[in-house]
Amino acid sequence: MPDSLLAAIAGFGSAVPDRVMTNGDFAKFLDTSDEWIAQRTGIRQRRILQDGQYCSTLATQAAKAALAAAGVEPSQIDLIICATVSGDMVFPSNACLVQKELGIKDIPAFDVAAACSGFLYGLAIGSQFIRTGTYRKVLVIGAEVLSRFADFTDRGSCILFGDAAGAVVLEPSDRTDKGVLCNILCADGGGWDYIYVPAGGSKLPATAQTVADRMHYIKMRGRDVYKFAVEKMQWLLGECMDRCGLKMRDISMVIPHQVNLRIIESAVNKFNFPMEKVFVNINKYGNTSAASIPLALDEAAQQGKIGPGSTIIMVAFGAGLTWAGSVVRL
Ligand code: UT7
Repeated sequence: MPDSLLAAIAGFGSAVPDRVMTNGDFAKFLDTSDEWIAQRTGIRQRRILQDGQYCSTLATQAAKAALAAAGVEPSQIDLIICATVSGDMVFPSNACLVQKELGIKDIPAFDVAAACSGFLYGLAIGSQFIRTGTYRKVLVIGAEVLSRFADFTDRGSCILFGDAAGAVVLEPSDRTDKGVLCNILCADGGGWDYIYVPAGGSKLPATAQTVADRMHYIKMRGRDVYKFAVEKMQWLLGECMDRCGLKMRDISMVIPHQVNLRIIESAVNKFNFPMEKVFVNINKYGNTSAASIPLALDEAAQQGKIGPGSTIIMVAFGAGLTWAGSVVRL
């Protein structure tokens, strides 16, 4: 494939709900505290979507912001990919609902279900369509409303999650050294029960009993996820640098999935990455799953921490189990 067809990120966008839920708000109905949550996770607050809005609401807002930043009209988009595991409905896909909201038809639109790694899976898929010359403008969205699947009686998991969406527009790069330089995608279905929602699918369709047993909420083996996350994040950082021939000094910013500050610190410490080169906003938004990396990308750009010429490593892992990394030069 010719290098001239690298996929470049032409614009970022993001959307978060207005409603803020602090750690103190959890302490009003759960045996927890601001101190415990902040020390163990780095989270101080998260955003919770208001009633009457859905995953597609946030996804569409983020998509419109990314299109505006890229100077691209919805009618110019050739493909919509939405990474989510908390779409409006089991089907149709969230991507189709976003397409309708954007007022466009007759282009492909589909979801990617790789949980917290979903955005990087979507970025890899979108890049391939650009690199082969199949499409010229691809919208990749990560959007999640995990607050609707969090069990607010389970203090070990519900405090982690927040709602958000982020999006990028991809188009063919005008330079051979600018764009998505490398993608790493991995999965191990043997770890399916590390984090999952048992009911509501074809295995356990909804019944009064599944509802009574709280089977439609997230079940998580927190400690196991933690160990897996540190190991994979470290491996991904090393692999991204090796595959692109990069040294630490070449990296402008690491944008990790915002999962837990301790996990992020353990992973980057192995490479002695200074924390100034690691973008963290988990304190404000919690773990927003597939939305976390594109939301962080947009914030980092708005804060002037990344911009044209920046070389960025993005790493994520999540339910599946899945893990993924990408290197992008803006
Ligand atoms: O994108 C993937 C999504 N999932 C994750 O990222 C999860 C990754 N895992 C984690 O972030 C951490 O494992 C947690 C934050 C979930 C838990 O932190 P931990 O340091 O691994 O705590 P732990 O599960 O080992 O529990 C330690 C203690 C337990 O009490 P006992 O048994 O020692 O008496 C828990 O019951 O902390 C207790 N605990 C809490 N206490 C206050 C668990 N959750 C809470 C809480 N408030 N919210």
